[in-house]
Amino acid sequence: MPRAPALAVSSWRTERYSGSGMTREVATLEWIGDVDGNLRILDQTRLPREVVFRECRDERAVWEAIKTLQVRGAPAIGIAAAYGVCLGMKLAPNDERGFFQRLEEVTSYLASSRPTAVNLFWALDRMRRRADTLRGQPPEVIRKALLKEARAIHEEDRALCHAIGRWGESLIEDGSGVLTHCNAGGLATAEYGTALAVIYEAVAKGKRIHVYADETRPLLQGARLTAWELKAHGVPVTLICDNMAAEVMKEGKVQAVIVGADRIAANGDTANKIGTYGLAVLARYHRIPFYVAAPSSTFDLQLSHGGLIPIEQRDPQEVTCPFGIPIAPEGVDVYNPAFDVTPAELVTAIICEKGVIRPVNRETIAAVLTGAADNSQGPQAALKSSANG
Ligand code: MRU
Repeated sequence: MPRAPALAVSSWRTERYSGSGMTREVATLEWIGDVDGNLRILDQTRLPREVVFRECRDERAVWEAIKTLQVRGAPAIGIAAAYGVCLGMKLAPNDERGFFQRLEEVTSYLASSRPTAVNLFWALDRMRRRADTLRGQPPEVIRKALLKEARAIHEEDRALCHAIGRWGESLIEDGSGVLTHCNAGGLATAEYGTALAVIYEAVAKGKRIHVYADETRPLLQGARLTAWELKAHGVPVTLICDNMAAEVMKEGKVQAVIVGADRIAANGDTANKIGTYGLAVLARYHRIPFYVAAPSSTFDLQLSHGGLIPIEQRDPQEVTCPFGIPIAPEGVDVYNPAFDVTPAELVTAIICEKGVIRPVNRETIAAVLTGAADNSQGPQAALKSSANG
């Protein structure tokens, strides 16, 4: 089994690590082969100690990978699910009725893997709609089109993440300390990330940035994944326990907080990894800007406010017995919501691929997402026009 890197990273498309004398590419998700191919995923539960890839050959393997967080992060979950549909349709009957019945079964099944990240449902809907446009065509034609659609979702996410980075970078000043929570990086997306894209882009522009990464109890995505990813890319990072954030802010080490999102309601209320809401409250007290970075596929405009976002409740064992080590009395009552909702009023701005949404409210969100806001002059112009409005 290859040991985790020492990464020598030259670019996002050609990340490489050397382990046990071998060099391999590190990609969060990769479709191998043609329409009858398989999905290769980087098993994130094994990081940072080991770099392990798994091959998913059917939709059940993808469901399991999403459920157990081998693939995690809202955009990556959506991409994996889209490929999961392609895997599930390998065994589809040849008649149209049977084919579409199978499509319904596969998409409903994949939709039951995790409830909060709306990118999952967005991607599955997109796959269903694509197939619908091809009713009357032979099944093999529809299957090919579905794979093309999944690849498009994957490819578009790369572009969206880079656009988010470009929009967000102007918000971060040279010499800033930036605090982030969970992992909203390349591991959680096709590549580059959302919150971390902003940091990567600022660093690429020559800004000196120091990241504070919350460890992110209970599953430690910050410690295991964000710290690993940032180190691999040569970005200075200091790992802190979640309960240290207030002190680090009080000491003046943090000039901005940037997090990702799993679902953003129409009014800007934002669901993200548990602990995000607390950070937003702390940031407000310390007068530190609190930014959310997410693609438009993370917005759920059908939900008028964050109270309507379904919050995943996870196994109590994640709290009482983290990584197999019992740390609490047997049978103790546990509350383990995987996400919380930060009210829009605590969010300074949302950075999406279409621009910077600021102030955050129903109107500015609708304007930027529909392209009605004047972002044509780039990030600074978008900021000015929203401040005037
Ligand atoms: O439970 P996880 O690890 O899937 O939670 C992930 C997060 O909360 C991320 O911040 C969010 O999905 C944004 S990823 C770009």
